[in-house]
Amino acid sequence: MSERSLLHWQSAVAAICLGTAAFSAFSLWSLRKQLRDGEVPPAPAMGVEMLIGNTPLVQVRSLSRATGCTVYAKLELANPAGSAKDRVALNIVRAAEQQGLLVPGEPGWVFEGTSGSTGISIAMICNALGYRAHISLPDDTSPEKLALLESLGAVVNKVKPASIVDPDQYVNAAKKACERMVRDEGVRGVFADQFENDANWRVHYATTGPEIFQQTSGNIDCLVAGCGTGGTITGVARYLKERKGLWECHVVLADPQGSGFYNRVNHGVMYDSVEQEGTRRRHQVDTIVEGVGLNRITHNFRNGEQFVDEAVRVSDQQAVRMAKFLSVNDGLFVGSSTAVNAVAAVRMARELPKGATIVIIACDSGSRHLSKFWKEAKAVEREISLEEVMQ
Ligand SMILES: Cc1ncc(COP(=O)(O)O)c(C=O)c1O
Repeated sequence: MSERSLLHWQSAVAAICLGTAAFSAFSLWSLRKQLRDGEVPPAPAMGVEMLIGNTPLVQVRSLSRATGCTVYAKLELANPAGSAKDRVALNIVRAAEQQGLLVPGEPGWVFEGTSGSTGISIAMICNALGYRAHISLPDDTSPEKLALLESLGAVVNKVKPASIVDPDQYVNAAKKACERMVRDEGVRGVFADQFENDANWRVHYATTGPEIFQQTSGNIDCLVAGCGTGGTITGVARYLKERKGLWECHVVLADPQGSGFYNRVNHGVMYDSVEQEGTRRRHQVDTIVEGVGLNRITHNFRNGEQFVDEAVRVSDQQAVRMAKFLSVNDGLFVGSSTAVNAVAAVRMARELPKGATIVIIACDSGSRHLSKFWKEAKAVEREISLEEVMQ
């Protein structure tokens, strides 16, 4: 190499090094500035249960850009046990303590029938507060949720998927397990009963709703949420409509295929065509989506049904594609029910005036769904357009 080209080469290396150093310094400076300009970091929490709630609201930039509305996601997946169910589990335990069914500082059991998220939240809260968790669930629940429950040390009771009228259906199995252990073993215990328990919708009315109202400065035109127990949608909707007026915030239930809520909300009848004799498949609600969709009316839903204005049906294919779209375009790695909400939000954005603000609930993360839902979502091509998602 000639002396001249060696000099060129050395200056090029020096320029690259300088550039990299300047870039790192800039990144660090802007991170520090963000920290200085933002809120004061929260004070230390005295226990993990105190970290529940006050979840962030983030703009879904891709959907906002594409629709001309502002679409936000309420990141319930940022709760310590990873879903909105942390709020419910804590409130159910606190209500049981107030009723004397559990006594702080003394051994006690919380029983629940749940296909996943609520069980994980109950297991975490029981560990934090000194209780034990006993969770009954369908044996086809995703392996990552099962592994989480087992890792948290919950007693896991797997039952065959069945209709609610079957005494061995997972909710009925949980109730029976509670009655048996309280009667035969003399333990202190409570059946959480998230579907029928008022502590469920009330915590969303008292916390999730006010948080969304504050985070949007009251400028929310449309709320989109799914419905499993109905606690989230009815609790948040009731709060927002009380604050804003009945018609000032449109509340939309995003329903997966096979669920009866779509017809219940839009036509007053709890029915889906898969209910026809001879057409029902193995699962209660024929969808790959977990946590939302049902074919019975729960107390939590009935109690706030009047606050739900409309339901939008979302196919599994739309949800799977939307999950990939949000991951690739926004860095939002979400679970199946959040993807369902995002599809419904785009449908609403196309009907609402430009500039409207839509909030969707992002209930849990994609990492809870790796082996089922995300197995399909990861196969979706990276370049998929929003039009293709919505087909
Ligand atoms: C992942 C997920 N999303 C949404 C929901 C629905 O929430 P809710 O039960 O408040 O209707 C659930 C309920 O379990 C869930 O697990």
